[in-house]
Amino acid sequence: MIHLYYDSKTGNVRRFIEKVIQVTGWSAHRIQEHMDVEVPGHLVTFTTNFGKIPTLTEDFMKSHNDKIFSVTSSGNRNWGRNFGVAGDKVAEMYDIPLAFKFELSGTMEDINQFIDIIKNQYYDSKRGSKKLDIA
Ligand SMILES: Cc1cc2nc3c(=O)[nH]c(=O)nc-3n(C[C@H](O)[C@H](O)[C@H](O)COP(=O)(O)O)c2cc1C
Repeated sequence: MIHLYYDSKTGNVRRFIEKVIQVTGWSAHRIQEHMDVEVPGHLVTFTTNFGKIPTLTEDFMKSHNDKIFSVTSSGNRNWGRNFGVAGDKVAEMYDIPLAFKFELSGTMEDINQFIDIIKNQYYDSKRGSKKLDIA
């Protein structure tokens, strides 16, 4: 079973996750303050305020980065060079692969691509291959 830990402020990431769950039956956990993480999994978050990592995601990663296989970020291409850069920042800070970036709540194609990446590249590795940085 694959576990996803996600952060969502305005609901886009939540909707993306819901579609992923519908297709795969994977397990999703919404990030909360001071939460326990017993099972390793993948982080899905968003980018805020000129390329920033959301505070809740930041705090979560400070405590639980050793249990996170990969990071994915939602964003909006209107932000140009800052598109989804929270994903790049988390990946660099914690030396984990950037799995994927998508806009808003993602298209069906994004969802299928994300599932494929997680399933085939990062399903059981703590430190997946960085050359697969296709986002
Ligand atoms: C104040 C604000 C700042 C944002 N800054 C960025 C940004 O720097 N880069 C980016 O790609 N998207 C940015 N976005 C877009 C969000 O990342 C995008 O809407 C995302 O889907 C939000 O996820 P959520 O609905 O799950 O909270 C910003 C959105 C808001 C409201």
